Amino acid sequence: MRDQSVWQSPVGKLINEMTLDEKIGQLMLINSPGGHSINSIKDDLRAGRIGAILNEVDPETVRELQRICIEESRLRIPLLIGRDVIHGFRTVFPIPLGQAASWDPELIEQCARVSAIEAKSRGVNWTYAPMLDICRDPRWGRIAETLGEDPYLTSVLGSAMVKGFQGDNLSGADSIAACVKHFAGYGASESGKDYNITNIPENELRNVHLPPFKAAIEAGAATVMTSFSDLNGIPASANEFLLKQVLRNEWNFNGFVVSDWESVRILQTAGLTEGDKESAEAAINAGMDMEMASRTFADHIKTLLDENKISMAAIDKMVENILRVKERMGLLNFNAERLGYFREYDLNGHLEIAKEAARKSLVLLKNNNYLLPLKKTNLTNVAVIGPLADDKYEQLGTWIFDGDENISETALHAITEEGKENFSVKYVRGMHTTRSRSYDFFEEAKAAAYDSDVVLLFLGEESILSGEAHCRSDISLPGNQAELINALKETGKPIVLVLMAGRPLALEYIIDKVDALVYAWHPGTMSGTAIADILFGKYSPSGKLPVTFPRVTGQIPVYYSQKNTGRPATPESFNHIDNLPIRAHQVSVGNTSFHLDTHYTPLFPFGFGLSYTEFHYSDIRLSSDKLTPQGKILASATVTNTGNREAEETVQLYIRDLAGSITRPVKELKGFKKIRLEAGKSSVVEFEITVNDLKFWNKYMKYTYEPGKFHLWIGGDSDANLRAEFELIQI
Ligand code: GLC
Repeated sequence: MRDQSVWQSPVGKLINEMTLDEKIGQLMLINSPGGHSINSIKDDLRAGRIGAILNEVDPETVRELQRICIEESRLRIPLLIGRDVIHGFRTVFPIPLGQAASWDPELIEQCARVSAIEAKSRGVNWTYAPMLDICRDPRWGRIAETLGEDPYLTSVLGSAMVKGFQGDNLSGADSIAACVKHFAGYGASESGKDYNITNIPENELRNVHLPPFKAAIEAGAATVMTSFSDLNGIPASANEFLLKQVLRNEWNFNGFVVSDWESVRILQTAGLTEGDKESAEAAINAGMDMEMASRTFADHIKTLLDENKISMAAIDKMVENILRVKERMGLLNFNAERLGYFREYDLNGHLEIAKEAARKSLVLLKNNNYLLPLKKTNLTNVAVIGPLADDKYEQLGTWIFDGDENISETALHAITEEGKENFSVKYVRGMHTTRSRSYDFFEEAKAAAYDSDVVLLFLGEESILSGEAHCRSDISLPGNQAELINALKETGKPIVLVLMAGRPLALEYIIDKVDALVYAWHPGTMSGTAIADILFGKYSPSGKLPVTFPRVTGQIPVYYSQKNTGRPATPESFNHIDNLPIRAHQVSVGNTSFHLDTHYTPLFPFGFGLSYTEFHYSDIRLSSDKLTPQGKILASATVTNTGNREAEETVQLYIRDLAGSITRPVKELKGFKKIRLEAGKSSVVEFEITVNDLKFWNKYMKYTYEPGKFHLWIGGDSDANLRAEFELIQI
């Protein structure tokens, strides 16, 4: 039974007045126009048959649709206007994976705030973001939309995005409702193929994949979107364990759940049901509230009610969940004037934030002989080579429906600006596309290199090579990019490789051919200035990897918080395939966990990123080596800028539980702090640890702590070796 408080509320009174058709209408999210005529949509609105639309971003159309809802429908309930505002709207920020490399929650909140302001100015009031899937398989194209491989980092940054989108008050003029997705476990898609099955043991699901969603809901996320994926045999869109047990019973989520695109209808394709009616029944009884794009709810709810396969109470609850969010958004004050008001915004201010976000997303992965930053006074000729050096569109990345490439600035443009009065720039495309296998421009590229003091090489992936449904079985550089690198290497000129991509790439076979490597992801509208600022030293790179870089595709999955196994690889036990003696005895090779044909460590570890200075970690201290469940320990280390320029560092805290009722990862990120240090200066960075940092879902499926020994590291990446030890004791 519904509790009395609901009946007295505006929502309850509305539900009381609604016909069944009007209730069903609130459950429908349709694509606009998406095969519907605008007049049929308007007729449906007048009849109360639609509660939300997605992909309508013409302000005049939105204004008219909302006016019809309020002035020409019986109950005057306005629409949710949904859009994928994933990493920007008109101003495009780095892809989420690139934003995550900033490890800067405040900046990420700002980017989401700007996105909300620009989206709302076109009438959008609901975004399908943030995407909080944890992914450790960069073959999966949607890793581009994630905040990386780590639950803690994704929780912190995902919550910041929710706050940025929703503001302090969801009914604010610039606020849009967030939709955390894809609930849940989508990032574990088997073999890195999109929409594939996911088999995730409950401990793993609860310790790795669910925490970011819980954190985002605690941050106030208004809605949740289910994933396409089949989770342990039950697709998420009909998974009662996820949608009722976890989301409602354990987390007390009071927003609403929306399906992904036709993810209800394809329950039949997945083999869960035999038709649309059964799919609607399965989704509704599992806890789905709103159906995106398909119409199984509209077509079958009445029959399912007649057959007692679903209850009217369930329908009322679905409507209540949706109307409660509309109430939070201020939509139930029925103010057509306010709904039709879309304010202008300060584009230049937004572009400055985009520049800062792009700068902070760049990760310096290699810098031999301090080639970078480039000194303009030492340069006469600079060769800029590669298809991604001057592409306003490709640098924006995946999921940029509303990105404006006319305001997009490329690296070539910014480098040319830097060159004025300093050095000449010769641009050669080098390849038709990142995938081409022709050698048409190779000679021209080599000639430009021979004439240059330095080669700035822009390669990687066009935006279409990542994102939804764009997965790769081999994540090395596409096309004959490696051959181009080899050809340029022959010129003997120093090569700075700037890689734009929507995922980590497998770079072991080319990393020794370049002198410096800047990983740019897809940095968005202001890529150009940001990249030039780093290359010419206006800013020291501060990005840190939110995801591990495998050496080769075959290493996947490789991630820092792996389990130790009973036979972990060691430098002593590792044997490379080339060094195996002929007729070696079966057990002569170190019987530990590694591949014969590649080293067992990643090419670049999670949390790694170079700077134009060096940071030295020393003097790790604990306030005590004993922690009680009621107490806390202060852990600190001294960080010293031993280089010759001021720079920013992200100090990271990792903890290992040496033994548990289930095996525990060799390291888990438990905190990070960004500091800025002048050359030669030191700072003591301190973290507080309590038993809450040590809790996990254990063998008995209890979220708890277990007394025992722990290791703790403080350092600049997940390979940190400055270690302390403490014990959690039960008193
Ligand atoms: C897509 C995506 C989802 C997106 C939705 C609406 O298929 O899976 O992330 O928000 O449909 O575009």
